[in-house]
Amino acid sequence: MALAEVLPLEVPRMATGISELDRVLGGGVVPGSAILLGGEPGIGKSTLLLQALASLAAQPGATVPHQETRNTKHKTRNAESGAGNIGGNVLYVTSEESAQQTQLRAKRLGFGSSPLKVLAETNLEKISSVIGRMRPALVVVDSVQMIYSPGNPSAPGSVSQVRDCCTELVYLAKASGTAVCLVGHVTKEGVLAGPKLVEHIVDTVLYFEGDAHHDHRIVRAAKNRFGTTLEIGLFRMTGAGLESIEDASTLLLEPHEEGAGKLAGSVITAALQGSRVLMVEVQALTTDAMLGGAKRKVSGADASRVAMIIAVLEKRAGLRLVDKDVFVNVVGGIKLTDPSADAAIALAIASAHMNRALAASTLVIGELGLLGEFRSVVQAGQRLTEAERLGFARAIVPARMKEGVKKGASMERVLCRNVDQAIAELG
Ligand code: TYD
Ligand code: MG
Repeated sequence: MALAEVLPLEVPRMATGISELDRVLGGGVVPGSAILLGGEPGIGKSTLLLQALASLAAQPGATVPHQETRNTKHKTRNAESGAGNIGGNVLYVTSEESAQQTQLRAKRLGFGSSPLKVLAETNLEKISSVIGRMRPALVVVDSVQMIYSPGNPSAPGSVSQVRDCCTELVYLAKASGTAVCLVGHVTKEGVLAGPKLVEHIVDTVLYFEGDAHHDHRIVRAAKNRFGTTLEIGLFRMTGAGLESIEDASTLLLEPHEEGAGKLAGSVITAALQGSRVLMVEVQALTTDAMLGGAKRKVSGADASRVAMIIAVLEKRAGLRLVDKDVFVNVVGGIKLTDPSADAAIALAIASAHMNRALAASTLVIGELGLLGEFRSVVQAGQRLTEAERLGFARAIVPARMKEGVKKGASMERVLCRNVDQAIAELG
């Protein structure tokens, strides 16, 4: 068969109704798919998934013959809504908490009387048999480190146990059409018989991250067979669970006091995260290094990219950084992976080093070449339009950038051909 003759695959999805989760999933959960949600303990994995399941349970969905439900009203509604609409029948398997604890949590989250099915079980055989009987549209297994396959003598949480259990659950998903979502804990140091181990057998890998200084949480896709990995989901942890943050442009910016002078070493850039633009602050600090070893510490950006930027600043802009420790931090837990943040990183370092602040309400975008030249970036128009909407007064941009703010825009554009010209903009 020729590739052109292959019929396009229509991927139906169950929208969870948690908008930011649906965004990272690429529109919702694909039936029969396997998702892995990893994250540090206490970050909010159980909370997020319980909210998603309760939301799905409340949606009218196709009734499954084996479903036992005492909620007859719900059943009638399901029957009326007819087939084609999946959802409704979902299962939460808790291997870490009791059903009572889950009930308590659900109460606190405001859906204590949800028709959502809960199973407190750690034995994989029993879990599989309940899934087989109930045939839910989606099952969450929270967490994979606490379940065990009776045929395997190793302890729960061990490499072989986690691998066996996950493989069987993923197999079950593919065979039955039930989507499975596996929860895996990740430790700060990296991984402990967890998520990394099973990344290759699932369709989608999501990581739940937080930032110690903010109450927001980020869900990022490390892999997604059914969508892009560029989108991130943004949430705020509140007393009543996780709240989706859709208008997130300025979420990560600390409110600066009116009139207060800006400190040197801080530059704002417009980062593209999937389909949306986020304003992100890049901070830098340079200090005298101990003899014989200048340190470069980077968080939120690519360390080798920053090393290149430092080299360009040294060679093309004449900054002496060889005997300086350089620290670069992207505020808010965002990772700036694309080169459009180069110019902002370069200016933040130059600003810190020269102790000259960039004027407030100014943003910087541009890629930096090895010759010190400023290069244009993708989706410049979208970034600038968003900055304009948010009331930024000036944008330092590459001179060759063709796209720009729409006509009549009030935002001033400062066109720079190279890093020297941008540095001249520092106060
Ligand atoms: P949890 O979902 O249990 O984390 P995980 O499953 O990833 O280990 O989240 C636990 C944290 O979230 C806990 O520190 C309390 C906090 N939390 C809230 O702030 N608000 C809430 O409504 C809930 C349910 C939890
Ligand atoms: Mg949990």
